[in-house]
Amino acid sequence: MVDIHCHILHRFDDGSSSLEESLAMARMAVDSGVTDIVATPHFPGQRASLRRISRLLERYKELSQAIAREGIPLQLHHGAEILCMADTLELAEQNMLPTIGDTSYFLAEFYFDEHYSFMDEMLRALVAAGYTPVVAHPERYDAIQHDPLVLERWFRRGYVLQLNKGSVLGAFGSRVQRTARTILDAGLAHIIASDAHSASHRTPHMGQLTQWLAHHLDADYARILVEDNPARLIRGESMTPAQ
Ligand SMILES: [Fe+2]
Repeated sequence: MVDIHCHILHRFDDGSSSLEESLAMARMAVDSGVTDIVATPHFPGQRASLRRISRLLERYKELSQAIAREGIPLQLHHGAEILCMADTLELAEQNMLPTIGDTSYFLAEFYFDEHYSFMDEMLRALVAAGYTPVVAHPERYDAIQHDPLVLERWFRRGYVLQLNKGSVLGAFGSRVQRTARTILDAGLAHIIASDAHSASHRTPHMGQLTQWLAHHLDADYARILVEDNPARLIRGESMTPAQ
């Protein structure tokens, strides 16, 4: 499995709090069948954040080296989860914001109460600037919970829709879980990722998720969500529609 959304970098955001915790997260992911993780720390899409890029790269290098030193069979990829706000588009147009690996995939998140119109305009503009948006956890946004099938528009435009493991499993409450289920049943999800933040809760272990998928979805669909599409994404390839 490939996990494209994980706060595994130490001491950068509200994710891993130490290099030791990051290594514990790496081992945990591997134990559950993960081969690759994209490190996607929170990164506000504003000019003031740019000075943090050198620290991000430093942490990424430290963790990659530690994973190799410890002999953990895990490939780390660089990335960031960009919180989209007013400045974001200008910075994206200037190629100043990190994407996933060396691809044009742009992991975009929004404030939970963001207006649909802002999200829609931002995603269109990112495409016009040459990126392929990956919408992080659409099921967690109020506007999407209100009308999950509005995602058909984004799906048709080729944006990648990434659900969270915790949403599917009910960790964020019944409304989020119901929304995730509606999106899955409509065949609108491309990928499920851990969005892990620690080694103790919201972890990168995928065992519970794969069990849930085995009980609730057909095997091909489940494989596309946690294996095929995330692997295609880190190679910069287009998505296989889930259904
Ligand atoms: Fe996240």
